[in-house]
Amino acid sequence: MKISVIGAGNVGSLAAMRIAQEKLGNVVLIDVLKGVAQGKAIDLEDAQVLLNSDYSITGSDDIAEIKDSDIVVVTAGLARKPGMTREELLLKNSEILKNICNNIKNYASNAIVIIVTNPLDLMTYLALKLTGFKKQKVFGMGISLDAARFANLISKEVGVLATDVDACVIGSHGEGMIPLAEFSKIKGEKLEKRLSQEKIEELLKRTVNRGAEIVSLLGSGSAFFAPSAAIAQLVKNIVQDQRKVVGVCAWLSGEYGINDVCTGVPARIGRNGIENIVEFKLNENDQNLLIKSAESIRGLAKQLPL
Ligand code: 2OP
Repeated sequence: MKISVIGAGNVGSLAAMRIAQEKLGNVVLIDVLKGVAQGKAIDLEDAQVLLNSDYSITGSDDIAEIKDSDIVVVTAGLARKPGMTREELLLKNSEILKNICNNIKNYASNAIVIIVTNPLDLMTYLALKLTGFKKQKVFGMGISLDAARFANLISKEVGVLATDVDACVIGSHGEGMIPLAEFSKIKGEKLEKRLSQEKIEELLKRTVNRGAEIVSLLGSGSAFFAPSAAIAQLVKNIVQDQRKVVGVCAWLSGEYGINDVCTGVPARIGRNGIENIVEFKLNENDQNLLIKSAESIRGLAKQLPL
């Protein structure tokens, strides 16, 4: 397997490290800034003896090096600054994505493409349209990260291990994010058994703001440890054909009553990318929120360079 990661910033280089160290394939790290991807790849290679592990990683500033990749992860683009929403990155990151997508189309026409650049739902839509690849092969990483954040917040509140919590988030990886209390469980039990309605509401809000909370604490740049772990999880699902249900940003054609919008939904991820989208029976309130958020994404999509 050849797995290329475009963008050697914090998210891209850590994702490349996790993918290489898990031996999921031969990793190629790309960045337009001369030397950066090469330097980071050499540094990661040097760690092999210390980790007592052999893996393959190379770096380049030449995007042609993604040639014939099986998976391409796109992390390139600007990160938000404190006080910004993800949506405010739309115009600048669209231009960056445009160029990258043309190269993916030319050099890696059979690849599965995982978009990470924000605003996620819109950049995924742009990548799908610009590459012209099948809808199963272009999707975004966002709500699996949000679900991990929700699970962590729940676990801290209740005093259980994060891995004892199964949390679920649907919709936009942005302002319209919808953490689903109803579909989240603590050791298989409903949240209400351990948390008051008020507490649940507070945790939902904190989940939506978690990315911004980290951005404001860091002062510059955005989160990277959990985002890179969420990327590696998706790559692993594909490489090992796990067919597990993971939240991804997918192009919808009627699912959840939504058409021609990319947004976060649960999906089975395997060797072919999205094997199928899973439709939960949402309560009326969550369903309405999802439609509203999809309409807002549709509105913003008019600004995309398509
Ligand atoms: C986050 O939520 C960067 O969108 C990413 O941290």
